[in-house]
Amino acid sequence: MNKPVILTGLRANNDLHIGNYFGALLPMVDMATNRSDEFQVNLFVPDLHSFTTPIDHSELQAQIMHNLKIYAAAGLPLDNASIHIYRQSYVPAHSELTWILDCFTGFGEMQRMTQFKDKTAKLGDDRNSVGLFNYPVLMAADILLYGASYVPVGDDQSQHLEFARDIAERLNNKFGELFVIPKPVKGQHEFFGKDQGLRIKDLVDPTKKMSKSDETGKGVIFLGDDPEIAAKKIMSATTDNEGAVHLDFNKQPGISNLLQLHALLSGETLEAVVEHHNGQTSYGDLKKEVAEQVQEFLTEFQTRLANVDEQALLKKLESSEAAMNEQANTTLLKVQKAVGLR
Ligand code: TRP
Repeated sequence: MNKPVILTGLRANNDLHIGNYFGALLPMVDMATNRSDEFQVNLFVPDLHSFTTPIDHSELQAQIMHNLKIYAAAGLPLDNASIHIYRQSYVPAHSELTWILDCFTGFGEMQRMTQFKDKTAKLGDDRNSVGLFNYPVLMAADILLYGASYVPVGDDQSQHLEFARDIAERLNNKFGELFVIPKPVKGQHEFFGKDQGLRIKDLVDPTKKMSKSDETGKGVIFLGDDPEIAAKKIMSATTDNEGAVHLDFNKQPGISNLLQLHALLSGETLEAVVEHHNGQTSYGDLKKEVAEQVQEFLTEFQTRLANVDEQALLKKLESSEAAMNEQANTTLLKVQKAVGLR
């Protein structure tokens, strides 16, 4: 009777840009909507994960709500009973299961996590928190509480997903069938389709991925950008001297990036867009068209964002969180009994 579960974290991050929008947000919203007939879809804000590295806490609450609104503005339905939208910290079982799993997790196992090694190298020992060390265990609890089989994650998270499988198997072996084992990374890729090479590039340096950490902001179009300024960023995007519009990410990375943006913004196929610009010997038309489209897109998106029904969002969170507490507590109780706490 229970539908298989798809689960993923909606990362809270204040500076979302159009690369995130087309590369991550929109595909996630589409996936949730399209799969919700056959699957239970859990989308949650990993708010307890959000300060494993230092943040400005006075902004966290507003940021969580802002992020949820962005998903709603991107089309995430708030009235679909198969899609649950919730905040991790509103389901205390996440923290409780984490503690129990911690006690079956090896120190070395966590020390070997590449993301942990990368992040600790950046911050320096004194500022590295135990929470950062523990991050993958909380992530495993996020997944295992709901028996999720399908967890779409980026490459940077696949080691964490493997850990969730390992710890689930470890406890199942010791205590009997407690957890559903999530599909391995390969199975996830087969299910979700390994990313289609959709990588929006930086406008100033089109050999790099568009990234919020760009210092000048000139190569990045943020969802909150003034639409006119965004259009200007397109007009001054780096191109080349080839004098021909070809889709060739090696030879003409800037032009190819604009073609890709053109396709995404217009909803046309990349082939159709390439055909449309075929034979042009200067880049003015391409830039002008993309600039107009970016401007229109941002204007529309920002209107949708301003019009997100906050009451409907809060109601959705409340009902999802009630349902998720029930589901998570059922799993937690099984585990508590297994380890002798109940
Ligand atoms: N760590 C994930 C990321 O950085 C976010 C996340 C937390 C998550 N818990 C999760 C993703 C559980 C999938 C499942 O993207």
